Amino acid sequence: VYTKTLEAIMTNQDNRPVILTGDRPTGQLHLGHFVGSLRSRVGLQDSHHQHLLLADAQALTDNADNFEKVRRNILEVATDYLAVGIDPTKTTICVQSCLPALNELTMLYLNFVTVSRLERNPTIKAEIQLRGFERDIPAGFLCYPVAQAADITAFKATVVPVGEDQIPMIEQTNEIVRRLNRQIGQEVLPECKALLSNMSRLPGFDGKAKMSKSLGNTIVLDATDKDIKKAVNAMYTDPNHLRIEDPGQVEGNIVFTYLDAFDPNKEEVEELKAHYRRGGLGDGTVKKRLEGVLKELITPIRERRMELAKDPDYIMDILKTGTEKCRIITQDTLDEIKNGLGVFHF
Ligand code: TRP
Repeated sequence: VYTKTLEAIMTNQDNRPVILTGDRPTGQLHLGHFVGSLRSRVGLQDSHHQHLLLADAQALTDNADNFEKVRRNILEVATDYLAVGIDPTKTTICVQSCLPALNELTMLYLNFVTVSRLERNPTIKAEIQLRGFERDIPAGFLCYPVAQAADITAFKATVVPVGEDQIPMIEQTNEIVRRLNRQIGQEVLPECKALLSNMSRLPGFDGKAKMSKSLGNTIVLDATDKDIKKAVNAMYTDPNHLRIEDPGQVEGNIVFTYLDAFDPNKEEVEELKAHYRRGGLGDGTVKKRLEGVLKELITPIRERRMELAKDPDYIMDILKTGTEKCRIITQDTLDEIKNGLGVFHF
């Protein structure tokens, strides 16, 4: 199956658009990833040529003191992919640090990007603040959007499913694409588009704007029933909804935000919202429903994940096969760019 898929990728015979997206392997994936991208990736793998990049090299740009953590999480994230339904016969999964062509492309692209442009990237600015780097920014960190442009263009991807925070990376990629094509005098690289999910940011269960491991407000993809119950019980509702009879507020009520994101029965959710607004519906009842919905979603993922975790060699094999295929794809693009730019070669 794989060989056939590879041929199709290399020549793109059937004209399916190419997707590249990825994750930094710094921890297990959680429901925020599920809503923001995993769910749509599972749906896209039939209609697109999809490549998933385990972006370990990018993760190292702010984990220079923790290579071990990043290495360990490659397998964790790959297991998460398979557990949610990414099918390795349809989607190629590869490891970034094992694709040397990406580094060469990054070095070439850096010649076409100014330091002030790097410093202007709003996501980078926010991340520098968040991580408290002040002036001590690792140079690799400042440059990672250029490396990300190398990732995307090496696969000639035109569709990049990502969260909102990655839009500046797509813009910076397209600037590099235009600059390179102009330099080469030919449309060697295609521009790409971000594909945003309709819910690209899930708040943490504590009501904070973002679900994130560092904030300790995540629900992981193999959460137990007990974990789920605990998280749902801790959820922020409407602080003014003191008695069941009181009218309650749905906006900003995290339990309803989660129901919107995960409950398959939209109609019933709308009825619940109306009832809550009118008064007479207790937080406990709404939370019970959410708990059920989350259990139904997570239980099969957790069970598949447990099965998969018994056979790490199987997952490593998938990564190895995927990475080998991607080595060819990325090397081809690198050769094309080097030729176009007129880089010396023997
Ligand atoms: N920057 C992305 C993130 O933090 C991960 C990533 C690396 C990526 N390379 C990519 C996403 C290429 C899309 C395309 O989530």
